[in-house]
Amino acid sequence: MGSTFGAYQSEIYLNGLDGRLPPFTTDPTALEDSARERLEPGPFRYVAGAAGSGATARANREAFDRRRIVPRMLRDATVRDLRTTVLGTEMPAPVLLAPVGVQSILHPDGELATARAATSLGVPMVLSTASSHTIEDVAGASGDGPRWYQLYWPNDDEVCVSILGRARAAGFTTLVVTLDTWTLAWRPHDLDLSYLPFIRGVGTAIPFSDPAFRAGLAKSPEEDPISAVLRWVPMFTGTDRSWDRLPFLREHWDGPIVLKGIQHPDDARRAADAGMDGIVVSNHGGRQVDGAVASLDVLPEIAEAVGDRIEVLFDSGVRTGADVLKALALGARAVLVGRPYAYGLALGGEDGVRHVLRGLLADLDLTLGLSGHRSPAEPSPDSLRYG
Ligand SMILES: Cc1cc2nc3c(=O)[nH]c(=O)nc-3n(C[C@H](O)[C@H](O)[C@H](O)COP(=O)(O)O)c2cc1C
Repeated sequence: MGSTFGAYQSEIYLNGLDGRLPPFTTDPTALEDSARERLEPGPFRYVAGAAGSGATARANREAFDRRRIVPRMLRDATVRDLRTTVLGTEMPAPVLLAPVGVQSILHPDGELATARAATSLGVPMVLSTASSHTIEDVAGASGDGPRWYQLYWPNDDEVCVSILGRARAAGFTTLVVTLDTWTLAWRPHDLDLSYLPFIRGVGTAIPFSDPAFRAGLAKSPEEDPISAVLRWVPMFTGTDRSWDRLPFLREHWDGPIVLKGIQHPDDARRAADAGMDGIVVSNHGGRQVDGAVASLDVLPEIAEAVGDRIEVLFDSGVRTGADVLKALALGARAVLVGRPYAYGLALGGEDGVRHVLRGLLADLDLTLGLSGHRSPAEPSPDSLRYG
């Protein structure tokens, strides 16, 4: 079966005959400005911002811009098949929704809207530990859609085990363990407004609904939210872990485990040696280490080091179909997108997330075909040149 994602293009043009326009821009580079007009400064800057001077976020984009696709002709790429399977999860295209926390600052339906949009397209959603809705409610909204769970590793083992058990019971198949955010970076865009959702009790639905977490509180989060927040924030930030703790997660999660935040080939090798199933080559969209290397720039050496042993996924800076193609060409099996769909959520709730995703997938479908590729497996380093 060929991909139908590109058909979003004809749908939009045909709707135009009746005077109907897309709900908001189809230009992924214009989403940020549209969201700025819609959101209050605190939530907008929380999403758009990056660590320190913003150098890492800029580097992420520059790394994509430096690489250029070399289109090939007469290869009969009329029919494309974008489907792929990663760690047992079938997906209609090599694209997942990155874990993005506190989505209710963008739209009241938050992660529920995102889950519904993802399921309507069959695109896997990675649910953040910092979700503003519970694991069980998001699973309900996700229905039969594919879902992975992202762990901010609590320093209380009982709470950790309890949360993992709930995620498994709610049908989350793959565990994504984020390593790069064991404490928050210096983020001037939030500091200047003194805006941190967690200490305002947003993005705490998962611990607040957790029996093991609640058992450690003198008063319930409903009675005394401040004390609950003050117990949770140091539990999921402020404690770095070590490689020898990974068996603990393996013991309590019987599905695939993916480590997110890998930027060095030696760390990728250690992940493989530790029996992990995959990694996400990610610098958290430039939100953690300022002045860091672009995530795309380290992808080739990491894919070279471990690509034949574990699944190599990628994020940080993906905005367009061309960006997805470039990451695939440099060794990623699939990519995660973060801010673009968060802006879609802000601009239109469930429909907004769907519009952004359909646009990205259409763009990917058309760009793959026009450059002479029929499937996500075809782009290779030879598909690119330095511009
Ligand atoms: C507002 C926001 C919240 C995020 N929350 C989380 C989170 O809870 N857990 C996590 O692992 N990554 C989180 N991330 C990082 C994303 O998963 C992803 O690595 C990053 O957004 C990718 O870069 P991009 O935004 O350029 O696509 C967040 C990113 C943003 C923008």
